[in-house]
Amino acid sequence: MNNEKPDYGLDAPGLVRGFLLGGPALSIAGWFLIAWSQPRHIGPLIGVANAMFFTGIVFFIESFLLMASSFYGKYRARDHLLDDLHLRGDETVLDLGCGHGLLLIGAAKRLPRGHSLGIDLWSQVDQSDNSREAALRNARLENVAGRVEVRDGDMQKLPFQDQSIDAVVANLSIHNISSRDGRREAIAEIVRVLKPGGQVALMDFKHVGQYVEDLKKRGIADARKSGLSFWIFPPVRIATGRKTVPAG
Ligand SMILES: C[S@@+](CC[C@H](N)C(=O)[O-])C[C@H]1O[C@@H](n2cnc3c(N)ncnc32)[C@H](O)[C@@H]1O
Repeated sequence: MNNEKPDYGLDAPGLVRGFLLGGPALSIAGWFLIAWSQPRHIGPLIGVANAMFFTGIVFFIESFLLMASSFYGKYRARDHLLDDLHLRGDETVLDLGCGHGLLLIGAAKRLPRGHSLGIDLWSQVDQSDNSREAALRNARLENVAGRVEVRDGDMQKLPFQDQSIDAVVANLSIHNISSRDGRREAIAEIVRVLKPGGQVALMDFKHVGQYVEDLKKRGIADARKSGLSFWIFPPVRIATGRKTVPAG
């Protein structure tokens, strides 16, 4: 019997580890500093010690919120995003920065007659044990390997033809492009590969307003930003829109 289970990875593993270990260390150091500085009435030091103590607690709590997001919340957020696409089942969906395949595989399950494509440059900082093989292994375990294809590459230069994709999706990936110009380039690429009538849904915890602005500049007239969703930490919004079908 095969007991292998899909594994969709831990997001920002370095940050989680840093908060999980560094938080208590900071609080303990702060606690000792409070105990030492209070009897001596060293005002500024007491302030710093209190800040260390409480910041450590906040970091520790944040490490659990980040883990809850990776191991539970992001599946709920994925389902909401994909539900809202109202896929027919025969489309081609592209997941930018697919990592272990959260949206890629979620979409493939909704595409019995379609295809799900993923592209990633497999950053280990952004997700634990990130690799093409990990995404394909998950696709196999979820019984959708036949309709999933994964490419190595950068979302700023998509290896897909103009107007070849029905829906482009992304979760927590576009913000990893550090420059505004780079993110603008990624949005331009999304619009280029979308078919007329194609949809976009880009979930992220920052820069979502910029994605909307850049989608509009590229002709996605109805681009808009959703309200905050708390299934993921930090909370996320989704930039959505549909490419206009030329008149006539
Ligand atoms: C936090 S992970 C999220 C992975 C996946 N979307 C998920 O929801 O589980 C961000 C992903 O974006 C990828 N990524 C970052 N910059 C990229 C770029 N310029 N092109 C393609 N992928 C990128 C990383 O390698 C990583 O897999």
